Amino acid sequence: MSIDPVMNVEVAQRPRLRIPTHLGVIMDGNGRWAKARGKRRTEGHIEGVKALRNLVEYCINYGVGHVTVFSFSSENWARPKDEISFIFNLLRRFVASDLQKLIRNNVRVRIIGSRDGLEPSLIRLIDDVEAKTAANSGLVLVVAFNYGGKAEIADAARHLAREVAAGRLSPEDITEERISSSLYTAGLPDPELIIRTSGEQRISNFLLWQSAYAEFVFLEENWPDFNESSFIKVLETFAQRDRRFGGIEAAQS
Ligand code: IPE
Ligand code: IPE
Ligand code: MG
Repeated sequence: MSIDPVMNVEVAQRPRLRIPTHLGVIMDGNGRWAKARGKRRTEGHIEGVKALRNLVEYCINYGVGHVTVFSFSSENWARPKDEISFIFNLLRRFVASDLQKLIRNNVRVRIIGSRDGLEPSLIRLIDDVEAKTAANSGLVLVVAFNYGGKAEIADAARHLAREVAAGRLSPEDITEERISSSLYTAGLPDPELIIRTSGEQRISNFLLWQSAYAEFVFLEENWPDFNESSFIKVLETFAQRDRRFGGIEAAQS
């Protein structure tokens, strides 16, 4: 008899999990986590990176194909300058501390978002991380950084309009597939499951187009408290969802 160390039940009795091909994660609540402990918001962001590192491990171990994490939104520029530069430095530190391990673990990293407003040295870092992991064939870790869903759709519309104006494309060519392949997420499957921590139940401009048929799971805990049990709970909840895509229940067909 083998016992599942996380669930503390026999492996055979473990509730059914469903593993998404693409999981989206709105990592929210770092500030509130810190505040509840009398710490500075920045300490919440540091703990949030630890939870992210663990999430990558769970995704690898459970066989998630792609995971997109929301780490800085185009609206987060509204925050105090100090906090913004702290988050930007965290990205640099994460790359410095984790890149080798990600490469060893066969993780491919993609960073999606606008490059407007990013320092040239950060853009070089992003390009470097993507290039150094491009040949990896395991988990695809997509970091949404300086990302906004509306800006992404507007960028795609502008690009397609230019193609039409230049005579390379006709208006009839603008299909759903063409729009999808003009987004930052070109080539990635749409997320089937999006989770958000911290009790907030909104999308906050994350993967607007791509989430058309995603299942949503909202967790009460703040992001730094997200652990393997949270991950399993999410996959169990996902397994219980009936995804109909506008059709009818499978049992009734
Ligand atoms: C999520 O935590 C991280 C980022 C948005 C960068 P928050 O910083 O939004 O934490 P709360 O929501 O204020 O608690
Ligand atoms: C969404 O969280 C963005 C990230 C997690 C990076 P926010 O904390 O910025 O969202 P709102 O402002 O509460 O909607
Ligand atoms: Mg927040």
